[in-house]
Amino acid sequence: ILLISSNVCYNHIYFDIIGQIGYALVPMIARGLMLGPDQPVILHMLDIEPAAEALEAVKMELADSAFSLLKGVLATTDVVEACNGVDIALMVGGFPRKDGMERKDVMKKNVAIYKAQASALEQHAAANCKVVVVANPANTNALILREFAPSIPPKNITCLTRLDHNRALGQISEKLNVPVSSVKNVIVWGNHSSTQYPDANHAIIVDPGSGRERSAREMVADDNWLKTEFQTIVRQRGAAIIKARKLSSALSAASAVCDHMRDWILGTPKGTWVSMGVCSDGSYGIEPGLLYSFPVTCRKGQWSIVQGLNIDEFSRARMDATAKELAEEKLMAYSCLQVEK
Ligand code: LMR
Repeated sequence: ILLISSNVCYNHIYFDIIGQIGYALVPMIARGLMLGPDQPVILHMLDIEPAAEALEAVKMELADSAFSLLKGVLATTDVVEACNGVDIALMVGGFPRKDGMERKDVMKKNVAIYKAQASALEQHAAANCKVVVVANPANTNALILREFAPSIPPKNITCLTRLDHNRALGQISEKLNVPVSSVKNVIVWGNHSSTQYPDANHAIIVDPGSGRERSAREMVADDNWLKTEFQTIVRQRGAAIIKARKLSSALSAASAVCDHMRDWILGTPKGTWVSMGVCSDGSYGIEPGLLYSFPVTCRKGQWSIVQGLNIDEFSRARMDATAKELAEEKLMAYSCLQVEK
């Protein structure tokens, strides 16, 4: 597993404990929360040169934790060494969004980083390496990575919207005062940005005793809340956390990365779908090739977009709006790269 970690800052490079998400993520992986309790892992941690000493400290802490599944740790600032033979790449590093910044502001920095990292993965990762991009703008960074790592199967390059999906589950659970484990099949469509469309129209509440399933929309019985407050809370949650913490979300992001990879590799539970940013095949009228978040089920390491869901007018407009933003981001990313050249 490759973990690319640091946050690269505007005109200088800074580092905070191998990146907040990375620091939260490594013990989760080493405890088997990502690949299950029987799967040994070898961790490659890549960071930037000024972070080398702190990265060594994380390696020491991992040794001190005596994780039985952890069979090896490579801590390096050499991208070639880091990418060599990896089966899974967790792309956490990037220029971080600060309070008051829109995602577009970080685009220019990050697409250049992702183009460079694509070449390293292309040349040195395992042929079937599975990639999840976390750093923002996550969908567009993943799209750039896909374009510049053409030998990695396009289906293997994804971005994280599971964090938004989990946030939506959490809000429904709070609203109905039911355990979050009884809520399933929300959807986050589109971009991991404030234009995303959190959709509870198909969500289900499972009674923990009887197993009986009920429509979340019927149980909430407040379409206005689902169309307004629910939307705002989920879409703006990342910004709210940055404002309160002065740092972007870390433990929830790390946990969502584990959920994303676990479900992709080990499969989604029967009757359950999750949201993943994947390469559009034109499903639901979304431009083919866009890295768009869809409801997916996973089996044997492959995701498939859930088909045949009924899309009402309200949903259609929002799904199209977030697709439009992604198409614009794609153009902007290309123009940034041309400027860089
Ligand atoms: C999040 O959703 O918490 C992160 O992507 C941070 C952000 O920029 O919103």
